[in-house]
Amino acid sequence: MLRTGSAPIPPFQDRRSRSSRTFVRVSDWLGSFALMRAGPLDSSELRKSRGAFFTPPEIADFLAAWAVRGPDSAVMDPTCGESVFLASAARQLKKMGAQPTDTARLLTGVDLHRPSLDASRDLLASEGFGAHLVKSDFFDLPTPAQIDDRVGWQDAVIGNPPFVRYQEFKGSARAKGLAAALSQGVRLSQLTSSWAPTLVHSAAFLKPQGRLAMVCPAELLTVGYAEPIRTWLQQRFAAVKLVMFERLQFHDAEEQVVLLVAEGQGPCDGFLVHRVHDAAELAQGHILDPMPATPAAGGKWSDLALSSEHRTLIKRAHSAMARLDEYGTPELGGVTGNNAFFTISELTRRKYKIDSKHLKPICPPGTRHLKGTAFSRADWEELRLANERVWLLHPEPPLRAEGLKRYIAEGEKNKVHEAYKCSIRNPWWKPPVAPVPDLYFTYMSHRYPRLITNASGASLLNSMHGIRLKPGLKRDARAALPLLALNSATMVGAETLGRAYGGGILKMEPSEAASLPVPAPDQLRKAWAVVQDRQAEFDDKLRGKEWWRVVSEIDRILLKDVMGFGSEDVEALQDAAAFMRVRRTRKTEERGD
Ligand SMILES: C[S@@+](CC[C@H](N)C(=O)[O-])C[C@H]1O[C@@H](n2cnc3c(N)ncnc32)[C@H](O)[C@@H]1O
Repeated sequence: MLRTGSAPIPPFQDRRSRSSRTFVRVSDWLGSFALMRAGPLDSSELRKSRGAFFTPPEIADFLAAWAVRGPDSAVMDPTCGESVFLASAARQLKKMGAQPTDTARLLTGVDLHRPSLDASRDLLASEGFGAHLVKSDFFDLPTPAQIDDRVGWQDAVIGNPPFVRYQEFKGSARAKGLAAALSQGVRLSQLTSSWAPTLVHSAAFLKPQGRLAMVCPAELLTVGYAEPIRTWLQQRFAAVKLVMFERLQFHDAEEQVVLLVAEGQGPCDGFLVHRVHDAAELAQGHILDPMPATPAAGGKWSDLALSSEHRTLIKRAHSAMARLDEYGTPELGGVTGNNAFFTISELTRRKYKIDSKHLKPICPPGTRHLKGTAFSRADWEELRLANERVWLLHPEPPLRAEGLKRYIAEGEKNKVHEAYKCSIRNPWWKPPVAPVPDLYFTYMSHRYPRLITNASGASLLNSMHGIRLKPGLKRDARAALPLLALNSATMVGAETLGRAYGGGILKMEPSEAASLPVPAPDQLRKAWAVVQDRQAEFDDKLRGKEWWRVVSEIDRILLKDVMGFGSEDVEALQDAAAFMRVRRTRKTEERGD
């Protein structure tokens, strides 16, 4: 919810921590533990390879209560594991008037793991229930539309599809999954994880008004490979609803999940999004709680994690701003094939007596040395004297100098020329040099991506993107953008456009960076007139790790004074950026003020 009339507080706390003014602890962020029930022949490695993460019963009960509509409902779990969902469905059927013995006829569970099916039978029997349990690869199971159907049309399909990433979801398993999805009209890429085709194949078992209720990884909303799934959901179903959690629900899987429920024949215009703190809160949900959402026709749905008020506010801010590529297109840095060989320090240069005409100055690999908003010639000199790798080998043929020949021969001895990128260029020892950019863009970020003025004349490697500014915009933008991009509207834009990697790193490809919302040229000019004399002060704060003070001040000047947002809206934008960041990194933001 947007706050109204509350006293200003530091903007970077998680919303739940506001009342106590303490920061969220990681341990607090982690939600309930999924149950792991290893039999003697099972192990965590084996379970991981089958994508076997078991669902907390509150979630299974919640989904079964929605999906099972009457005492005669046929319900299937396509990857049932130890049948937490079938047990929930059985209880639901009983509540609606079915006899416990009816469940053997109404319920179907499929799994490729025999011991899980045995455990299912015992679990269900312990409550007087039964089910038709099928040992099969779900992708081998014919759909009810096929002549060799074994399970019949279903009123509901419920479950938690296996989550095996594409690196492990390979060979015939992946081929069968992709073929099953394709026969439902969904073309998935080779980068697909196993849950995606399971979801699509499941829908092929539903009666026309049937209900699908699944636990999905939250990356359903964000990753590129799930784009066909997002499109399909809107086309295939008449109604799609999502439940988003603020807390992690599957500790062992370390993945955020969303609950997806869908029914009827599509298409649908929008979604309903219900946001809860954790699984325990599901039982308290009210029918009127969900908020409508109209996700972008293409692209990611990352911002669905935010409340609709936040989304509306963010849309308003972003539509008043410019895209980064209005200033210049983000470009890839140079790829050498072996940075350890091709990037050279001053000592190495001297040792081999390599003339500087065979070298290009570069901003050294990595971004750790870039603390402020600019990288000057003096900064480069300082790194050169500190023996950092400030040179890129770029010899002018023919090779004559002895030292240079020796350096390259040593590279050959160490098989540098056999690395793929080296082997495909001629000569292998002359890597490409990226054009010297006006701005560097740090695209792998823990906190947020940064722009850095390049006043050094140095080129860059692929640890950053480069931006060459359009001629008319160069003067102001080169100096001003790096500081003025440190605002909460830009930061929340990065969170929704980029993609979270392992360890919570936010990565932005050039195409994603291109659409990053940044201050529009007139906003930039006005705000820069106010802040430019204070640049050294801001830089000191950034170098002193007080970035949040800088963001607060830039928010006040840019978002409030120049763009006209009220204080409460500015705080809400700060909250939204902090919420997305904490959700991504699962880390407290300790700040000491
Ligand atoms: C995420 S677990 C879910 C288990 C259970 N539904 C629950 O939520 O507790 C996924 C299950 O899918 C099974 N599985 C994996 N790939 C499968 C496939 N291709 N066909 C059928 N079952 C599969 C695994 O053995 C595992 O029991």
